[in-house]
Amino acid sequence: MSNTENLNTEAQTAAAVPKKLHIKTYGCQMNVYDSERMAEAMGPEGYVLTDRPEDADMVLLNTCHIRERAAEKVYHELGRLKPLKLAKPDMKIGVAGCVAQAEGEEIRRRSPLVDLVVGSQSYHKLPAMVKAVDAGEKPIETEFPVEDKFDMLPERPASARPTAFLTVQEGCDKFCAFCVVPYTRGAEVSRPADRIMTEARKLVAKGVREITLLGQNVNAYHGAGPAGEDWSLARLVRELAKIDGLERIRYTTSHPNDMEDDLIAAHGDEPKLMPYLHLPVQSGSDKVLKAMNRKHTAAQYIALIERIRAARPDLVLSGDFIVGFPGETDQDFEDTMDLVRKVGYGAAYSFKYSARPGTPAAERKDLVPAEVADARLQRLQALLTEQQRATQQAMVGRECWVLFEKPGRQAGQWVGKSDFLQAVHVKAEGLAPGTLARVRIIEAVTNSLAGELV
Ligand code: 5AD
Ligand code: SF4
Repeated sequence: MSNTENLNTEAQTAAAVPKKLHIKTYGCQMNVYDSERMAEAMGPEGYVLTDRPEDADMVLLNTCHIRERAAEKVYHELGRLKPLKLAKPDMKIGVAGCVAQAEGEEIRRRSPLVDLVVGSQSYHKLPAMVKAVDAGEKPIETEFPVEDKFDMLPERPASARPTAFLTVQEGCDKFCAFCVVPYTRGAEVSRPADRIMTEARKLVAKGVREITLLGQNVNAYHGAGPAGEDWSLARLVRELAKIDGLERIRYTTSHPNDMEDDLIAAHGDEPKLMPYLHLPVQSGSDKVLKAMNRKHTAAQYIALIERIRAARPDLVLSGDFIVGFPGETDQDFEDTMDLVRKVGYGAAYSFKYSARPGTPAAERKDLVPAEVADARLQRLQALLTEQQRATQQAMVGRECWVLFEKPGRQAGQWVGKSDFLQAVHVKAEGLAPGTLARVRIIEAVTNSLAGELV
């Protein structure tokens, strides 16, 4: 997996002959972050990362439970690992993340080759669990422990990348009727602000220029400040912005009802807060929104977007949509299409509803036939793709800032991200990761922009 490939180098590990760890990450950015932290936790145990499962002494699947397909992928992958494990019985197989949290024991029942199961709140226990496997046990940890796992994890090593994720909040109290997150990730917990500030300062000292604050419901962040006072996400962003060398701040994922006034204001007057916002609405039908327990109407969402855009007119908006929620009629779906036309998205993720065990919506019998949901998804995606293309096209001829991350696939090319999170590549030699440069966009290609240094 690409996101952890730079983490543990052989020099950092204690063991003379490093053992190899392969982590496969599914799902959201929180899982990407968690995989990095798990790799770091295993560094002192003598493990270095490998991209190749066939070379690995341990394979960890960091799983996602959000939709049925995501959860099934885990069992599919375990099936693919079976011949490897049979050929190399010493190889350890671990299942981490939200499927681990949700299914625990069931995983080992379905796949006896699994040596350990570690839920997303317990990965600081991974080294001890691996030792237990060596002692012949098959540990499962799916509790929500009282200790803060972040305090138990080793310090983050130097990063080769100028961008980093930083978890500030976990869990969700919203209980949208379709969603497993409140069950797999638990109740909302915000990390204390000073820990976040310290972690951010260390990241910046190690060369990070852009930090994305992560949380399942990140804009509900309310953490304890240094004197025990309450810090909102906006306060946290403003304090982070004071760190010299930190150039960009982003946050994801948010709920419309937690877009507080101070956060909207920060989008207007905090230059380091980037003009890109992922603010899912899921549906444009008030009836469906109510059934989803979203606790806002389509009109309220649109009014909110207008307020945020008044603060930051060039904001690029991204969203999530679900089609085929139980009881969704043709008219409900048309309401979603209308909302998309009114709001205008620069990026979006859209999904066919899938029933998740244990969620209220899974009890409903008024399912939308699969072929109807498929047709709706196609129409919605066509509209969203058109809007995304238009957003990319509108960049052509404009100048923007790009934070360069690494050389591109072609020789003499560097790639980075615009303020609006668009991938941009330029022809340039000898840039360093972390260079922030002005770029004129000359062409919009499918998923990226081509530009030239100004
Ligand atoms: N079915 C389909 N999509 C879902 N999502 C969450 N749960 C489900 C489900 N049961 C989508 C939502 C959410 C995104 C992360 O995944 O759009 O915002
Ligand atoms: Fe799931 Fe997001 Fe709703 Fe929380 S706010 S229940 S994470 S969709």
